[in-house]
Amino acid sequence: MADTLGKDSLVTCPAAVHAQQRPLMQPAFSPARLKEYATVMRDAVVEVTGSWRPGQTIQVEAEAYQIAALAVSKTLVAAPGATQAATVLAKALPDISRGMYARSLVPGEWFAKLPLGVNRRYERQMGIARSQINRVAVHYRNAGIDYEDVLSMVIAMSEKEPDPHQFVYNQALTFLFGGVETTAAALTWTLRLIDQHQDIAARLHSELDEVLDGRLPTHEDIGRLTYTQQVITEALRVFPPAWVGTRKVTKPLQWEEGTIPAGTELLFSPYALHRDPAAFPEPELFDPDRWAPGRVGAAQREGFFAFSAGRRKCIGDEFATNEMTIALAIILTR
Ligand code: HEM
Repeated sequence: MADTLGKDSLVTCPAAVHAQQRPLMQPAFSPARLKEYATVMRDAVVEVTGSWRPGQTIQVEAEAYQIAALAVSKTLVAAPGATQAATVLAKALPDISRGMYARSLVPGEWFAKLPLGVNRRYERQMGIARSQINRVAVHYRNAGIDYEDVLSMVIAMSEKEPDPHQFVYNQALTFLFGGVETTAAALTWTLRLIDQHQDIAARLHSELDEVLDGRLPTHEDIGRLTYTQQVITEALRVFPPAWVGTRKVTKPLQWEEGTIPAGTELLFSPYALHRDPAAFPEPELFDPDRWAPGRVGAAQREGFFAFSAGRRKCIGDEFATNEMTIALAIILTR
């Protein structure tokens, strides 16, 4: 991942750098900002779903990807006049993601040098993304305006960095990667699960009819759509998009079977943890009611790892669940 995102981005940087970066980025996800983003999310969903026609077959994953890509790129780059850049970035992402995943699956650097289509498309789209981000960053710097978006915040942070341009580029890509593939996968799985559980679909429809009464959702509606949010959380439990993660042991760790020495790289799987019956009775059952208010005990709350936990917990968790709530509300009512 560091090949694509660099070693100084929020997700790849070492702990000491992370402790400084994270508080500086957190304001981009404050309640006030999330409220503004809800309108961007709604417009993204309307734009993508607007072309769907009754009876048409669509590839859900590709559509969900477009929704997520538009929502993240337009919140990353919100300046008037920069919307074209956000659209170009959204279009460049699928090829960049495919190239990045192909590289991460094949150890060593030789794979990236092969003249394969996946590598050529990756290089081409990386070039496009880089020039867009650089162009917009220059525009922001010259204007000297805080557009109250993620990019303005990253540019302000970059002033103290040895290579500000590279820093802005790495952080921008981190947000695009962190926020698009994951949310698109989550939305796709959620729609599949709803399709397979018509009783749950019926309860969703009745909540949406009652709360929205035919209108488009606003930020204020998100908190009122409690059952919709339970469905989303349960889908994230059953099919967590980040189904495997890594951590490095920083000091010797006592374990049932001995001590894990410092420096060990550990692999853990939220997918497996979410199937622990001690935290989630009947774990294979898709049961949104296990997230009903008042029913969530400590074991269940602590056993939910879709957004990870601790200092490196996903910074966009609420962004993602808001976006999914808005997307489901629009898709299911139109
Ligand atoms: C359903 C959607 C999402 C899922 C399942 C998800 C999952 C995760 C997970 C598991 C991590 C921790 C990675 C680790 O432990 O190393 C993470 C980190 C991160 N996510 Fe998300 N994410 C989602 C949406 C988003 C969105 C929408 C954004 C941005 C708009 C975002 C931005 C980030 C960033 C920047 C980090 C690094 C945070 C840090 O290290 O401080 N994510 N995400």
